[in-house]
Amino acid sequence: MNVIGLNGSPRKNWNSAQMLEHALQGAASVGADTELIHLIDLNFTGCRSCFACKRLGGKSFGRCAVKDDLTDILNRILEAEAVIISAPVYFGDVPGMVRNLFERLWFPGLMYRRDGACAYDHKVKVGLIYTMNCPDEHFYDSLIGGHKGTFERFFGETKVVCATETLQFDNYDLYVGDMFDVPRRQEKHEKVFPEDCRRAFQMGQELVK
Ligand SMILES: Cc1cc2nc3c(=O)[nH]c(=O)nc-3n(C[C@H](O)[C@H](O)[C@H](O)COP(=O)(O)O)c2cc1C
Repeated sequence: MNVIGLNGSPRKNWNSAQMLEHALQGAASVGADTELIHLIDLNFTGCRSCFACKRLGGKSFGRCAVKDDLTDILNRILEAEAVIISAPVYFGDVPGMVRNLFERLWFPGLMYRRDGACAYDHKVKVGLIYTMNCPDEHFYDSLIGGHKGTFERFFGETKVVCATETLQFDNYDLYVGDMFDVPRRQEKHEKVFPEDCRRAFQMGQELVK
């Protein structure tokens, strides 16, 4: 079983990346081959609205025709058993590079057909990880529910794990941040974040089983 992990935070060692690493370790613990890719290392754009993926008889029908660093990864995701994507919440949404990934993943699967049929015939299980400053993940229910619903439509079973009130800085004394309850944040990082990582590990296991 092949599981591809995509970290959508520009920070390679922080909350989103750590949760993703745990999810991949969970998948590996039950026999999956895993790989971790940081989106920040890649040069790619969102959908360019070329419609090559919808062109009848076209060589890119049902596939993204754009050629950049994402091309090979998109092709491999469509052949993988599972993909796990981690992202911080940025201004109530995911970072632009994650949105670009989603457009390139989703749009070729969408066929403008009345029966709602999808262009992808292979199911891929999906794990989504979100990390955020906000104390309550339900604040982003419509964002996260929208992503989950779209992945379920085009790919298959989709699981979600969130971490809230994450540690944003190593040392809060060095930054403007008096809106934060720093001792509570640090305590949460020590006591709750390991539990969030454990839930990510379990999600990785469940996606593979
Ligand atoms: C540009 C930017 C925008 C952010 N916007 C939000 C937001 O709208 N809601 C929120 O809860 N956290 C927001 N955050 C905080 C991050 O989501 C949070 O610190 C996250 O855990 C960072 O992930 P990372 O440690 O993997 O980089 C924002 C952070 C940045 C840098």
